[in-house]
Amino acid sequence: MHVSRKPLVAGNWKMHHGGPTGLDLAGAIGALAREVPHVEVVVAPPFTVLAAAASELEETPVGLAAQNLHVADKGAFTGEVSGPMLRDAGCAWVIVGHSERRQLFGETDALVAEKAAAAYTHGLVPIVCVGETLEERESGKTLAVVERQIGAVLDVLVAHADSAVVAYEPVWAIGTGKTAGPAEAQEVHAAIRRQLAGKAPNLAATARILYGGSVKGDNAAALLGEADVDGALVGGASLEAASFGAIARAAERIAASS
Ligand code: PGA
Repeated sequence: MHVSRKPLVAGNWKMHHGGPTGLDLAGAIGALAREVPHVEVVVAPPFTVLAAAASELEETPVGLAAQNLHVADKGAFTGEVSGPMLRDAGCAWVIVGHSERRQLFGETDALVAEKAAAAYTHGLVPIVCVGETLEERESGKTLAVVERQIGAVLDVLVAHADSAVVAYEPVWAIGTGKTAGPAEAQEVHAAIRRQLAGKAPNLAATARILYGGSVKGDNAAALLGEADVDGALVGGASLEAASFGAIARAAERIAASS
């Protein structure tokens, strides 16, 4: 974490808490956010509860994210949700290119870049996810894969340098309980920042690079203590206010003391 970048802790609820339990959780996170003023807190509930969660979070500093968007504004795309619709629902953020979208729904690097661009067009900040599979890591391709994924979206990030957010999520660490060690995470985060710097030094300085993959209250401090880890994208541990709060508080302690 670097003093010039406000840490961002985002909760990706995935396909959980799409009804009343989501509103309860949003309310609890709204209260928690007031205890962590040095941390930017974002939650990404399912579509069905976004508008109600926006009302719940209205008087709080918590940002609301969607988990996906379609690149078009509107049209005959049954089952899809557009950027303008997400804005209407109260979102300021959207996750794009999550590995589950890439792996299970066939999203390509090019589509992820289009989605990131569409997000910015509609006033949403995309959290652009990248990360290698276990097979890619074991065959020594981690940095090449991440470089390719970042390369596809680099021009979009350059054009929005002051709000760029990337999440490095090694696929083998998502939902598995296996985390990249702090040094392993830092190595990839530093490589991403070097790649950004090669294109635009200001982008490298301002972009927040989050780590994701089995982040919990007990490993968050070590990960967030690394120089190029600017926050966390949290799945499983974001489904309860206590476990998400432990991560946000770990970030707060580091940010408040630096
Ligand atoms: P996890 O998920 O924290 O449950 O590993 C992270 C993510 O998929 O964003």
